[in-house]
Amino acid sequence: MTTPIPAASQGGDPARQRPYPPPAGGPARQLRPTDVKRLNRDWRRRTEGRLALLLDSVGQPFNLGSIVRTAAAFGADSLWLCGNTPDIAHPSVGKVALGTERFLDVTREPSPALAAKAAAAAGYRVVAVELASGALPLAEAPLDGDICLAIGNEDHGCSPALLAAVDAVTYIPQPSRVGSLNVAVAAGIAMAEVRRREWAP
Ligand SMILES: C[S@@+](CC[C@H](N)C(=O)[O-])C[C@H]1O[C@@H](n2cnc3c(N)ncnc32)[C@H](O)[C@@H]1O
Repeated sequence: MTTPIPAASQGGDPARQRPYPPPAGGPARQLRPTDVKRLNRDWRRRTEGRLALLLDSVGQPFNLGSIVRTAAAFGADSLWLCGNTPDIAHPSVGKVALGTERFLDVTREPSPALAAKAAAAAGYRVVAVELASGALPLAEAPLDGDICLAIGNEDHGCSPALLAAVDAVTYIPQPSRVGSLNVAVAAGIAMAEVRRREWAP
């Protein structure tokens, strides 16, 4: 049995801590693989919007592998690899992606601007995820319908040509002194927000 952490030691104002009911059916336990499959199937039925990613020179293979696994988990269907983004078959990509690349339709397009046009022609609204002038905070970004998220390089971000080719730009607010997020984390947060919008009651 776990001992609840006293509100005072959680930091924050105890008056703002909402009481939650205890989990139904006793303490939580990890789901078995068959239960996870059933749970995923339920969420798949509630998910209609298409999700794609465009990577503009995401250079580190382990970042690509992480993005691929998260994209596959959120039911993304297409992935455009642009600039110097490594090949999906790179061994270090596979070590992190763990075979999830098989769920994605991967296209190599050297020009991120042309990839954005291809995504738009395929029916996606292309939204760059970048700390850029004129960008909307993630919670206010136009993320309904079929969305292709464009993600930039670890050092220099999205190229100007890409930013000029997209339908909208969004940023993830950082209430801190941290300059930016790891690219795979930023991509994951944006993908989760796209799905959250669709699932919101
Ligand atoms: C490490 S950042 C790029 C460097 C960043 N432009 C800088 O100068 O610090 C790599 C990529 O992660 C994404 N990213 C990281 N933090 C972000 C944030 N807070 N909002 C939106 N995108 C972010 C963007 O796609 C960006 O191109």
